[in-house]
Amino acid sequence: MASEISLFIVISCITLSSCSTNAQLSPFFYSRTCPNLPLIVTNTMRQAISKEPRMGASILRLFFHDCFVNGCDASVLLDDTSTFTGEKNAFPNSNSIRGFEVIDTIKSNVEVVCNGTVSCADILALAARAAVFLLGDPSWSVPLGRRDARTASQSAANTNLPPPTANLSTLISMFAAQGLNARDMTALSGAHTIGQARCTTFRTHIYNETNINPSFAPLRQAQCPGPASGAGDENIAPLDIVTPNRFDRGYFLGLVTRRGLLHSDQELLNGGSQDALVRLYSINYVAFANDFANAMVKMGNINPLTGSNGEIRNNCRVVN
Ligand code: HEM
Ligand SMILES: *[C@@H]1O[C@H](CO)[C@@H](O)[C@H](O)[C@H]1NC(C)=O
Ligand SMILES: *[C@@H]1O[C@H](CO)[C@@H](O)[C@H](O)[C@H]1NC(C)=O
Ligand SMILES: *[C@@H]1O[C@H](CO)[C@@H](O)[C@H](O)[C@H]1NC(C)=O
Repeated sequence: MASEISLFIVISCITLSSCSTNAQLSPFFYSRTCPNLPLIVTNTMRQAISKEPRMGASILRLFFHDCFVNGCDASVLLDDTSTFTGEKNAFPNSNSIRGFEVIDTIKSNVEVVCNGTVSCADILALAARAAVFLLGDPSWSVPLGRRDARTASQSAANTNLPPPTANLSTLISMFAAQGLNARDMTALSGAHTIGQARCTTFRTHIYNETNINPSFAPLRQAQCPGPASGAGDENIAPLDIVTPNRFDRGYFLGLVTRRGLLHSDQELLNGGSQDALVRLYSINYVAFANDFANAMVKMGNINPLTGSNGEIRNNCRVVN
């Protein structure tokens, strides 16, 4: 595994232009101070996923919800207290984001060998990469050296994270606001090849919308009762109908047959600018995997705290 990882680092730095786009972050940031870091993260993620396959998806999503809210600074990991309002109870996160115990476990495993050295923001970036690698096969070199925020913003979490009701132009503009183009947006949406969503996030799509496969809608309605019942909000269904625990092109195949679970998913193939790319990804896994890896590096470079800004948190849930 160690040689696999270093091989990927070499390859990615040659092929991914984004490898050197952020002068502040470097894949070799902890090479001297914590050389086993990637291995510790991957091994802990492997244990977590073997205990619960969905955990890979949950960790990948945490990284997205960190980076889109004032940059990849581990702000999403901070707990609310009587004197501190974090992001966990923002509307897109509340009752939804998960995996904090796994990040805690990785952090404490890392602290044993590299005490006080590695930021929670970098742990999240490496854990997201490990999740994808363990559930499929893409990997990429992760630029490192992020530091942890001393603040969080519930209002930015409410504003910056796209809702499942968003149309294509809203999705494109919300990603553009983070420096990500439409191709990045569509590739990153391929994260929905793993994981689950709650009925409350897709009810309108399966009951009231027309751009949906007529056999898929009743299938999902069976587990997600209509609004009149007042029940079932928390029932979950897979975002990728066939292989929700495999990082593959299944999500895009689903979109092509109008089996996207969220309204926002099906917007990517609904007669608009992303149709051709969705069709490409649905038949060409390598094209998807390469674009996804590239876009993950770009997303990971959003507004990091570096140098003497921020801190290296002792506990990912609280500022020092
Ligand atoms: C394009 C705009 C996006 C929208 C509107 C969106 C929305 C959602 C929603 C509503 C859920 C279900 C949450 C719940 O029911 O509690 C979800 C799940 C998920 N999202 Fe997204 N998402 C988007 C982009 C992304 C991106 C860029 C990533 C990562 C790179 C991502 C990764 C995930 C994963 C892995 C899950 C499943 C999590 C789990 O099973 O715990 N999403 N998303
Ligand atoms: C790491 O260092 C801190 C502060 O010096 C100390 O409180 C903590 O117990 C150490 N943790 C480990 C795992 O050695
Ligand atoms: C997309 O949604 C936004 C915000 O709800 C709305 O202003 C806009 O008109 C919509 N665009 C299209 C093409 O439907
Ligand atoms: C579907 O639309 C009808 C009429 O606009 C509305 O009453 C109902 O609540 C909607 N159902 C869902 C699931 O959004």
